[in-house]
Amino acid sequence: MDKMAVIGAGQMGAGIAQVSAQAGYHVFLSDVSVELAQKGKAGIAKQLARAVEKGKMDAADADAALARIEPVGDYAKMAEAGLIIEAATEREDIKRTIFENVGKVLAADAILASNTSSIPITRMAAATTDASRFVGVHFFNPVPVMGLIELIRGLATSDATVDFVRGYAERIGKRVVQANDAPGFIVNRILLPMLNEACFALGEGVATIEDIDAAVQLGLNHPMGPLTLADFIGLDTCLSITQVLHSSTGDPKFRPAPLLVKYVEAGWLGRKTKRGFYDYSGETPVPTR
Ligand code: 3HC
Repeated sequence: MDKMAVIGAGQMGAGIAQVSAQAGYHVFLSDVSVELAQKGKAGIAKQLARAVEKGKMDAADADAALARIEPVGDYAKMAEAGLIIEAATEREDIKRTIFENVGKVLAADAILASNTSSIPITRMAAATTDASRFVGVHFFNPVPVMGLIELIRGLATSDATVDFVRGYAERIGKRVVQANDAPGFIVNRILLPMLNEACFALGEGVATIEDIDAAVQLGLNHPMGPLTLADFIGLDTCLSITQVLHSSTGDPKFRPAPLLVKYVEAGWLGRKTKRGFYDYSGETPVPTR
């Protein structure tokens, strides 16, 4: 399989397209319009140029990888793809519509995968043409840096599909961990309660934003403190995954922190809105409380 497709050219989709093209795949990259797919490709060009500047990559290799990314305005070309990875907005209705439309062109032996962070794979498989060829592949942000893929097997996912995705992950240089189709899979089930707890601690006045972050970053040797990481992921995303954990298990230990809910209601969603627990409008982030 040398041709694949990525649906969704945002941060995650572009990252997936980039690492796949670097590994030699020809990637059809789509979004709601060809212009957005082209914008995703332009972002990848910047990432590759930075890697060349730093001496991490040959200019010729970067050019070749970029040339393997083909922005497309519809799904027609995806009939040639052996693997299609959906990395669209984290909304089940949007993903289901994509699966129904992709199903019309999906090759008879092609694999369809979703980069969902929290929607059940078995439930979404019902919207695909063949549940045995549907699987979850959960990447981490920033995709070119993070070494992991969570592979989530739905009830009907076949062994052949799992083996295929393992082969793909090996080729792009990511370690695979296999999770059952349980809420939050592995990483988000463990991560989100930590981020949510940091919001409880801040809301209860345990410590300042800076000290909560410094405590975890230096005391536990994490690359970022939890409030910085929550801003990086997006507070709306953090809240929505926490709500999925809470509603699908019914376990009160997952209840969202009131402060997290308030920030999302205020539209303070983290880096992407230039304000979350930190203010990102200047050169260096400044704590907001
Ligand atoms: N894209 C590509 N490369 C990037 C990047 C990006 N967005 N951001 C940073 N990098 C690269 C840099 O180029 C640099 O590469 P080099 O070592 O080859 O020069 C390297 O990463 C380190 O970057 P910096 O020196 O600028 O900064 P840091 O050392 O602070 O690292 C970080 C930045 C990699 C983001 C690090 O802070 C980190 O690992 N943070 C934790 C990230 C994390 O936990 N991600 C998972 C989130 S959960 C998730 O995605 C699941 C979802 O479902 C919620």
